[in-house]
Amino acid sequence: MGARGHRVNVSYHQWMLEDEVRNDALQAMVDALVQPGDVVADLGTGTGILAVLARRAGAARVYAIDASPIVRLAQDMARQNDADNITFIEGDIAVVELPETVDVAFSECLGNFAFGDSMFGALRTFSQRWLKEGGRVGPVAVRLFGQPMDARLNWRPATFWQTPWRGLDLSAFAHGDAELVRVIRAVPSFLFSEPELILAFDPWDRQETYEVSAQWTLARDRVVNGVCVWFDVDWAPGVTMTTAAPAPETHWSQGLFPLPQREASAGDRLDLTIAIAFDEHEKPAYRWIGTWRSPDGAIIERCERKDFEHFGPSMDSSPGV
Ligand SMILES: C[S@@+](CC[C@H](N)C(=O)[O-])C[C@H]1O[C@@H](n2cnc3c(N)ncnc32)[C@H](O)[C@@H]1O
Repeated sequence: MGARGHRVNVSYHQWMLEDEVRNDALQAMVDALVQPGDVVADLGTGTGILAVLARRAGAARVYAIDASPIVRLAQDMARQNDADNITFIEGDIAVVELPETVDVAFSECLGNFAFGDSMFGALRTFSQRWLKEGGRVGPVAVRLFGQPMDARLNWRPATFWQTPWRGLDLSAFAHGDAELVRVIRAVPSFLFSEPELILAFDPWDRQETYEVSAQWTLARDRVVNGVCVWFDVDWAPGVTMTTAAPAPETHWSQGLFPLPQREASAGDRLDLTIAIAFDEHEKPAYRWIGTWRSPDGAIIERCERKDFEHFGPSMDSSPGV
């Protein structure tokens, strides 16, 4: 049990605190954003480390807010490290009440595919209510990139769901499996062509929906059965971090948008369109279309998919995108 009888999952936080790529980038973000005397908000403070770093960078006061009771332990941590003038608040950043507006608001708000932690809508609401005119924020920009991929090391739906299991035909599940956007650890040598920018967005002004596209032309014959997606983030102006597979590993994974497996030829072009929508809990839902074209532009194959898990049991349900 955690502080005062409340259960707190600290292993998730340990995992993040052991990610040195992330820690270095966040330290650089705090140093870039916080000026002596600033009033700062740490949104989703978790263990409270960024709030303490902000005080060490010269912040006059820090409001450290988290919906989880972990803030009670974070308060103990700050006391044990002689970090004063931090007000820990257990609550939702979208509805929190502060006694004053802030000069700086930052947040480690990124989940898998960037959207996984469902925090961007709440960041927008917070900044509209509590950030001073001309105030500074971090992160300042998030970009999604993608690359065609042979994901057979990560995902083998045909061989599992199409094979009898203890005498039962499980092929009914193959469709749902193929429609799941998956979290994977991509192997760089199985990524083809060059990374393309799919979406750049302001994490403090997430749109209701996105419809984006990218194209890749294969330099060599390749087996392709999906597009690998990851994010880069500017935590502050000039403070950039990537979660690309070839870069130093972070605790973030890459994502896979599965496509029907294809033995594509050199010169073939893959066009990918992704529509992203968010439900009332800000959970993202994805619909994607992969179109293969021959070098003369003729369509070879087209496949439309939507995220089975997020769109619910009815394959006909409309996500509004
Ligand atoms: C990725 S963790 C970051 C923790 C810490 N800032 C760090 O960098 O190690 C995100 C934190 O945001 C909190 N959180 C998510 N949505 C929230 C919301 N709407 N209001 C308050 N806290 C939220 C979670 O409980 C979690 O502790």
